[in-house]
Amino acid sequence: MTKVLTSRFHLKGEAADIAVYEKHEGYVALAKALKEWQPDQITDEVKKSALRGRGGAGFPTGMKWSFVPKESKRPKYLVCNADESEPGTGKDRDLMRYDPHQLIEGMIISAFALKSHTSYIYIRGEYWFIKEILEKAVAQAYAKGYLGKNIMGSGFDHDMYVHPGAGAYICGEETALLESLEGKRGHPRLKPPFPAVVGLYGGPTVVNNVETLAVVPWIILKGGEWYKALGTEKSGGTKLFTVSGHVNKPGNYEVPMGYPLMDLINNECGGMKGGKLKACIPGGSSVPILNAEECAKMTLDYESAAAVGTMLGSGGVIVMNDTTDIFETTRNVTHFYKHESCGWCTPCREGTRWLYKVFERMHRYEGKAGDVELLYDMADKILGKSFCALGDAAAMPVQSAINKFRADFDRRIKVTLVQIKGASAD
Ligand SMILES: Cc1cc2nc3c(=O)[nH]c(=O)nc-3n(C[C@H](O)[C@H](O)[C@H](O)COP(=O)(O)O)c2cc1C
Ligand code: SF4
Repeated sequence: MTKVLTSRFHLKGEAADIAVYEKHEGYVALAKALKEWQPDQITDEVKKSALRGRGGAGFPTGMKWSFVPKESKRPKYLVCNADESEPGTGKDRDLMRYDPHQLIEGMIISAFALKSHTSYIYIRGEYWFIKEILEKAVAQAYAKGYLGKNIMGSGFDHDMYVHPGAGAYICGEETALLESLEGKRGHPRLKPPFPAVVGLYGGPTVVNNVETLAVVPWIILKGGEWYKALGTEKSGGTKLFTVSGHVNKPGNYEVPMGYPLMDLINNECGGMKGGKLKACIPGGSSVPILNAEECAKMTLDYESAAAVGTMLGSGGVIVMNDTTDIFETTRNVTHFYKHESCGWCTPCREGTRWLYKVFERMHRYEGKAGDVELLYDMADKILGKSFCALGDAAAMPVQSAINKFRADFDRRIKVTLVQIKGASAD
């Protein structure tokens, strides 16, 4: 299988040094882009590659770039979303620590395409050790003339900053991220206007995930068509998946888009551990859960995920064997969203708390008759009615888990003598 993003991972982090990176095709794509390409040609090539944003929503990257106004009185910005807080996801961590220059090079090329002179890497606070790796790499890039004024004699100027977050999941949502970057409380902004038009400090801003930006040098070097052909018609290229849970070899794996989910589990990850497959959450904790039959049908691309009723999300594949209590898994996930709800809008702020209250009493085996329906209904009151997608992220796991693993929920309802005898409570 062709490795693209992880092709320098065998160097075990040595590529973080600019000299090693340069020896392995590093900054060749940047030189090519600055010398031979016009900014719009780069955007067109990214469109050809069928690259879709790897942050979760899978929005086509080239199309997002083309929403940025060509001329703007305000400065344009490029922001790399390195917040990576979705439970079950750790791919950006490895991309940044093993190959930071790949991301930096991708960002400079992307900024050139967007005619942006300033970019930020917004990195989650817990990745403090990776922030240090990135800062060192950025300093090396300045020293070599890949950042700063008149990059490689092209006349293009660009400055890059690394900015740490403070441990809030909501700051991964692109507009909350921009608020946080501006030094304010991180809660989402009303959309439209979208950041591509009114973003950081009011200027047109592209926010892209680490993986999305890190692959750009390869698209320039080898061509959009080449990249697209690695994957499927609508989901081009390869993608990193973080596999965790009941598999023999958990970790980050790069596979082509369209690769069967079960092959990822059985071949790359060495198969199931401790039991048979019961369930899998294929795109980080916020996407609908799959049962074993659905897993067998799914290939790792956006279209197949939608066909089985889930999403590819952030690529966090959480695998569960038949010893797993899906009620407990869902309670755990709900606790996370309750904790991370920013409190800005009522359906999510109140709804996640009420959801968790019911989960808590069911956890103590004190659930009341009708509690499973109550959970489902409360999730329904959040889904599609919240200010940002965190509300949906809290609701979807609950509803899908009840739909597919109802027995694990029913076991939590307190069975009274009255119910056993089938007598009425009156
Ligand atoms: C609650 C929430 C958390 C998010 N967290 C992240 C994150 O940690 N990293 C990320 O890249 N995108 C995250 N996103 C998606 C971003 O809002 C945005 O869509 C993404 O950064 C765009 O990049 P892309 O086009 O390259 O996918 C999150 C979205 C929501 C609603
Ligand atoms: S949905 Fe939740 S996280 Fe999003 S704005 Fe509302 S309260 Fe905040």
